[in-house]
Amino acid sequence: MKVKNQIILALDVEDKDEAYKILDQTTPYLNTIKIGYPITLALGPQIIQQIKDDYNVQIIADFKVADIDATNEKIVNTTLNWGADSIIVHGFTGDDSVLAAKNMAEKNNKEIFLLTEMSHPGADRFLKPVAEEIAQMGVDMGIKNYVAPATKTDRLAKIREIVGDEAFIISPGVGVQGGKIQDTLKYADAAIIGRSIYNSDNPQQTLEDLINMI
Ligand code: C5P
Repeated sequence: MKVKNQIILALDVEDKDEAYKILDQTTPYLNTIKIGYPITLALGPQIIQQIKDDYNVQIIADFKVADIDATNEKIVNTTLNWGADSIIVHGFTGDDSVLAAKNMAEKNNKEIFLLTEMSHPGADRFLKPVAEEIAQMGVDMGIKNYVAPATKTDRLAKIREIVGDEAFIISPGVGVQGGKIQDTLKYADAAIIGRSIYNSDNPQQTLEDLINMI
């Protein structure tokens, strides 16, 4: 995946006019938008294809898929059929669940991102202790794309060490959650940024400022 300016917009708004206003201002600089449950549940899954058609961007569906293999397969297939180019899948469910998601994405000529560790403080309790094993599982399964936290640069660096330089890491947590873009991009290929852009009084200026820091 090629991410323009190494920034992915996390479009976690729930109103279409607001979403389009932000996309109008940011898509001259960006080609990758992460949509998640907030916008999809508010506006319906057809918003994925609408955004793609209206802005010529690639969409990462952040549905943090975390079910048994048979259910993961269905979630991944349906999401990709709604137009998403890739989908984020949790790793803690184990290799059978992740493999089902990976196989279904490949059947659709699309990709999964394997979520190793989350960016919020609460993730330290349950996810952090197994994150390195999840990353290693991804490597063993031949997965190329990973999600790892910008808020914990030491953890991000560790995940990079495990998955290797050829892997593609996207990293949430820059801005409101405390991560710094320059530190993040030392180890990640792209930063995922939401609130500091879409809640800004001037999303375009905020984005330009971020790009100038890279
Ligand atoms: O608003 P903010 O920049 O904190 O948005 C970060 C985005 O990345 C949100 O959509 C959040 O759900 C997502 N995310 C995260 N940590 C992960 C995976 C995804 O913050 N490990």
